[in-house]
Amino acid sequence: MRKKIPAVVFLIVLLCLLSGCSGGKKDTVQTVKIGVTLYDQYDTFISEMMGWFTASATALEEETGTAINLEIVDAAGSQTTQNEQVKSLIEKGCDVICVNLVDRTEPTTITDMAEKNDVPIIFFNRELVTEDLERWKKLYYVGADAIGSGIIQGELAAETFLGDEKYDKNGDGICQYVVLEGEAGHQDAIVRTEYSVNTLVENGVKVEKLGYAIANWKRAQAQTKMAALLEQYGNSIELILTNNDDMALGAIDALKAAGTSKNDWPLIVGIDGTDVGLTAVKNGEMAGTAYNDKEGQAEAMLKLAFVLSGKDAKNGLSMDDIPLEKEKYVRLPYYRVTLDNVEEYIKKS
Ligand code: GAL
Repeated sequence: MRKKIPAVVFLIVLLCLLSGCSGGKKDTVQTVKIGVTLYDQYDTFISEMMGWFTASATALEEETGTAINLEIVDAAGSQTTQNEQVKSLIEKGCDVICVNLVDRTEPTTITDMAEKNDVPIIFFNRELVTEDLERWKKLYYVGADAIGSGIIQGELAAETFLGDEKYDKNGDGICQYVVLEGEAGHQDAIVRTEYSVNTLVENGVKVEKLGYAIANWKRAQAQTKMAALLEQYGNSIELILTNNDDMALGAIDALKAAGTSKNDWPLIVGIDGTDVGLTAVKNGEMAGTAYNDKEGQAEAMLKLAFVLSGKDAKNGLSMDDIPLEKEKYVRLPYYRVTLDNVEEYIKKS
């Protein structure tokens, strides 16, 4: 005997057919899901870059009519945590994952998982070696040209030092300097220090290195390390080269805490052009900085992720819109910032 279909079931099936749903899902809006894992969400430059990335995603959603679902997580300095995060982002169905590697020498666990699941990876800001990036065709890198930042910093330091004799405190015609460095082994730290000092010399400054300290990009660590360098070398320091603005600000904090009058401060130059860094250039505490183009890098990374997702039906964005080098790298330039043009950058950021 045939059973009767209850009226309520019939009604549900009918409504479903009319609204075009299948399996309970309504799939009219295309969604691109992008996962991002950060080496340290409290890093000033990274957090400002991510602010721009998120804002750009909202703008791109409006422009393309495609929903962009971002999931941003913090690895808090642990590579093991970051590997787990990538695993979980893959399981959650991310189309692309952007990785700000904790340890730039340890990308293999991540790249193996990505290849196995066919999820493209965009590494950013913390550059890995070429051999690691070449292990699979869907691995990319977005960042800046580290050499450029060292050259700009060296030029700024040379011009300012040679242009104002007050910086040659002991009048010996030699620039006595100290360096505050980022993390040991970080591509930017190594390259910036080397190129900054070489450029100083190439621009006619005789130099003598008094000392250096590693302050891991952090303002508080830089203050402590600078306080120790001030104890040791005091007024003989004529130039402080720093691998980023946060560490330049830490050095300034130490000078203030030591009660050094501003007129006796050494020459200080930074890199990044973070909000606080630009303010320090504007008020004359830092002679200048090399602007690390967080807007450009964030936008390039977003567009690349969007194109790689393969869900860009409407907008027509393609790989041609991404300034890719060797089919893998986006490397944007740095810009020179001094008191003369700092307002332009304050408005931009
Ligand atoms: C550099 C930046 C530093 C720090 C570092 C983290 O490019 O200048 O301030 O953010 O990246 O990897």
